Amino acid sequence: MHTPPSNPPARLAGIVPAVLAVAATLVLATPARAQEQQVNIICSVQAEWCNLIQTVYGKTTGVKVNMSLKGSGEALAQLIAERANPKTDIWFGGTGDPHLQAAEQGLSLEYKSATLPQLHEWAQAQAAQSGFKTVGIYSGPLGFGYNPELLAKKKLPVPKTWADLLDPRYKGEVQVANPASSGTAYTMIATLVQLMGEDKAFEYMKGLHKNIQTYTRSGTAPIKAVARGETSVSISFVHDGPGEKMQGFPVETVTPTEGTGAEIGSMSLIKGARNLDAAKKFYEWALTSAAQELGAAAKQFQVPSNKGAKVDANVPDFKKIKFIKYDYAKYGASAERRRLIGKWEKDVNSLPR
Ligand code: F6P
Repeated sequence: MHTPPSNPPARLAGIVPAVLAVAATLVLATPARAQEQQVNIICSVQAEWCNLIQTVYGKTTGVKVNMSLKGSGEALAQLIAERANPKTDIWFGGTGDPHLQAAEQGLSLEYKSATLPQLHEWAQAQAAQSGFKTVGIYSGPLGFGYNPELLAKKKLPVPKTWADLLDPRYKGEVQVANPASSGTAYTMIATLVQLMGEDKAFEYMKGLHKNIQTYTRSGTAPIKAVARGETSVSISFVHDGPGEKMQGFPVETVTPTEGTGAEIGSMSLIKGARNLDAAKKFYEWALTSAAQELGAAAKQFQVPSNKGAKVDANVPDFKKIKFIKYDYAKYGASAERRRLIGKWEKDVNSLPR
């Protein structure tokens, strides 16, 4: 039979102090850092790496890591939208251009880590040119992914140059992401403009448009589609290839012989972060070589920015790739990024295929 509690306040009077006493013991026994600390992160690398960071950092520090996975362009859009009331403490990963744009728009916080001298020159340059509002955490080259089995079946050659991708035989065979949501795709536009000059680059992209099967939201979706035989060719960061191959999918990568660009994947502390101390600790940790080696552990093969981090054998060999001299400051500027993406929407994406 259910007996209603008699005299509830008196009953609580006995229990509450006991609970508080137990809680106080727990608090005293728990290291200060673990007391309800949390950090809210937008993570713009692939889910496997984000998840590994969440587990390892959470387990080793006791800090609750709240992760939200977003492509580079989407992450920037979210930070702009929540500017007046930021819910994000730190933005980890994603191409460097939108991080520079966030810095320029006052969305990120100036912070000079003592670890900066341990980073490669390109990562330090990324920090310096943003007024130390962002920092390079990895780098990787843009190129093509292809499915050798599908190409052979369709009797199509392996594309080796940007020009090759205009071949009408690739009609409906090429995937790339949409530059409004994806940093990978914006890197492609900026690379082509620097390689060919703006007019020729836009003529090129109009030609390429005819061969595009789909513009995806995420920059990594096209190489996954290639790996799974849904399309033959992708324009992708080549460091995203080996992870797919290691899962047993038929996928290879190549960089165009005319020359290509590279991203400087970046990290920024958010201005107005509610958990600033926790965010700074995470930031420092993310710059260590041990933290950066988690990328390869999650089968992500960018070059780590910490010079002491082990470079996995699957990381693309930069010495074998022809690079353009990518102007990160110019193409990371808000007005330029907005202008180029707007022009792409109007002059390229609006065309019939
Ligand atoms: O995580 C893989 C990756 O290629 C990163 O190297 C890069 O910064 C990011 O994806 C870009 O993603 P998106 O194009 O969706 O912004």
